[in-house]
Amino acid sequence: MNRRTLIKSTVTFAAGALTAKRSNFQSSPILDRVNPERSDRLRIWERGLEWRPDISHLKARLLANENPYGPSPKARLAMMEYTRMGNRYGHTQAEELIAKLAKLEGVSENCILLGPGSSDLLEKTATVMFHKGGNVVMADPSYMSLVKTAQYFGAEMKGIPLTEDYAHDLVKMKSAIDDKTRLVYICNPNNPTGSVTSSEKLYQFCETTAEQVPVFVDEAYLEFIENGRKDSMVNLVAKGKNVIVSRTFSKIHGMAGLRVGYIVALPAVIEEIAALSRSNMGMNIASLQAAMASLDDEDFLKMSRHKNAECRQFVAESLTGMGIDYIPSHTNFLMFPLSTDGKLYLQNMFTRGVGVRVFEIDDMPWSRVSIGTMEEMELFVQTLKVVLA
Ligand SMILES: Cc1ncc(COP(=O)(O)O)c(C=O)c1O
Repeated sequence: MNRRTLIKSTVTFAAGALTAKRSNFQSSPILDRVNPERSDRLRIWERGLEWRPDISHLKARLLANENPYGPSPKARLAMMEYTRMGNRYGHTQAEELIAKLAKLEGVSENCILLGPGSSDLLEKTATVMFHKGGNVVMADPSYMSLVKTAQYFGAEMKGIPLTEDYAHDLVKMKSAIDDKTRLVYICNPNNPTGSVTSSEKLYQFCETTAEQVPVFVDEAYLEFIENGRKDSMVNLVAKGKNVIVSRTFSKIHGMAGLRVGYIVALPAVIEEIAALSRSNMGMNIASLQAAMASLDDEDFLKMSRHKNAECRQFVAESLTGMGIDYIPSHTNFLMFPLSTDGKLYLQNMFTRGVGVRVFEIDDMPWSRVSIGTMEEMELFVQTLKVVLA
């Protein structure tokens, strides 16, 4: 299914949704400016609700694209062992992790910067690139974290709609670059759509565009794809191109709460971003050791990938069985349009113990469900059937 058919299948509902949205979304110019999940075309609903979703009592927590299996057994052991060293700073461990990552990514150690989650590095990159304004060229809808910081400094977001196949429209993105563009942001696979952009086309795009402006490629979900690393843009850094690749231990490694992420970029770029803070002071010893152990736990990574694919397939088939279209996903979440009121849907799911997200794209409500365990996904499907009946 492509964008046109999806939009067609929900367009009848659009007028109603628009009215509902206008009256429910509390508008605040300052909050909107810094809202991480709001763009010109995309809004997240929870912030406009009169009720506060309570995530502490959820039976299925399917709203933040977390990995239900992690941390890996090796990472857990490492953490337990190293909590006793919590009285020490983690500089040595940070250096060890950097060395390990440099080897893995095929770059030198001065091409790597660690952060407490990749969010920290998205924000720091945006601070360095946009503190004097400018604009960021990106897809819309896409992940808003870097842009949020850019907008805080007064930068403009130049959001280019995804193509019919929900890929980045690289041709239009290229022509949107002007003399105020400080960075191009690409999220591949993309959040919140779960869709991918061809790695061959992206490689070409990055290679040529990086001659003009830096290209940031957020690869948070890449490793949910079988052999996903071969589609990484990291090789361009090794070739001396001005590309910044971000990765996280929050997704395939199942360590979202432990906060480890990193970027790979040219040494001069790393130096500029690292100058914002004292390197590695945001990191902690137990998480650093866990990250190193997790990199060595191939069995766990494989299991995460396979179980995710199996549960995602179950959800996709269940949706098809219910006559619901969805965007084919390459990640640990899946998005589908709602033909009902988004706010009511969200409330009904939450009160039944199933936490999901509702986004509004072009004034139409969409649900994004993270892929949890099979048990959680069965509960999601059962609940969905009741809520949409
Ligand atoms: C595309 C994308 N990038 C980055 C992040 C940030 O993840 P973290 O800060 O946990 O590394 C997320 C989190 O959901 C994401 O979806």
